[in-house]
Amino acid sequence: VLFTYLHLAPAPELTRALIDSGAICIAYETVETDDRRLPLLAPMSEVAGRLAPQMGAHALERPQGGRGMLLGGVAGVAPAKVVVLGGGIVGYNAALIAVGMQADVWILDRSIDRMRELDPMLDGRATIVMSTTLEVERALEDADLVIGAVLVPGARAPKLVTREMLGLMRPGAVLVDVAIDQGGCFETSHPTTHSDPTYVVDGVVHYCVANMPGAVPISSTRALTNATLPYLELLADRGFERAIGLAPALARGVSVVDGQVTSQPVAEALGLPFVPLAELVGEAA
Ligand SMILES: NC(=O)c1ccc[n+]([C@@H]2O[C@H](COP(=O)([O-])OP(=O)(O)OC[C@H]3O[C@@H](n4cnc5c(N)ncnc54)[C@H](O)[C@@H]3O)[C@@H](O)[C@H]2O)c1
Repeated sequence: VLFTYLHLAPAPELTRALIDSGAICIAYETVETDDRRLPLLAPMSEVAGRLAPQMGAHALERPQGGRGMLLGGVAGVAPAKVVVLGGGIVGYNAALIAVGMQADVWILDRSIDRMRELDPMLDGRATIVMSTTLEVERALEDADLVIGAVLVPGARAPKLVTREMLGLMRPGAVLVDVAIDQGGCFETSHPTTHSDPTYVVDGVVHYCVANMPGAVPISSTRALTNATLPYLELLADRGFERAIGLAPALARGVSVVDGQVTSQPVAEALGLPFVPLAELVGEAA
């Protein structure tokens, strides 16, 4: 049984190899609870969100090409303005750290329900605004750091900041595109690595590392294994068929079994036949 992040939809060769192996393959990223949460993705979003202001603050330093702003300001000097696009798990955690660093924090989201939750969660210490093109443009004009954290489930990230809109921004302002693993929410984003994390377009510094949690492997591994261990114990103690019967969330993560693709989105993305899991493992599933 292979139980890890798989991301098979864009990976035909990997999928073929797993089909040929005959192994049971369970994808962390599609393990889904009854209330539609993704418990094995959430810890990485928490880590990436908490890292984003830290990486952005570093990129804002003048020797790094940034404006030369201290996030929290000092007595008599205004703090930097941090704009967080998307107030989900990444966005909340980014805002929490930016507020803790004494920045002037703005969050833009489209979900009124989520915005109602965020206000008390952040103790009223961030300004929370409905995300429209007009509000994004307004926020960009005096932003020092913009953190992209939007997600539309099952779709590429929407491009909330076009190249033209970079012209509204101050020279040396910083964009951190956490959503880069879903294509990025700035038109000018392209994936970068920890060894060369930033580049400049039209005077604006871009940080677009696709695997941000890799920068802090001790914290990330602990956060991830806290979430995966209960499922691992179930698999080890009960075996695959009993485990997926006891934990429907785990069953939803099963992607390949005995050479058959049991994930409909993966089968559709790669043009392969889809076989429902229940047909392969009978009543246990
Ligand atoms: N780069 C990395 O290392 C890394 C790590 C973890 C997660 N991520 C990515 O970060 C992104 C966010 O993940 P998450 O777990 O916070 O998702 P989430 O679903 O918890 O939050 C996404 C938020 O975006 C909001 N949103 C959607 N469209 C919007 C719009 N047009 N304007 C403003 N807000 C909008 C939603 O209402 C929601 O609150 C995802 O793309 C995820 O894959 C990247």
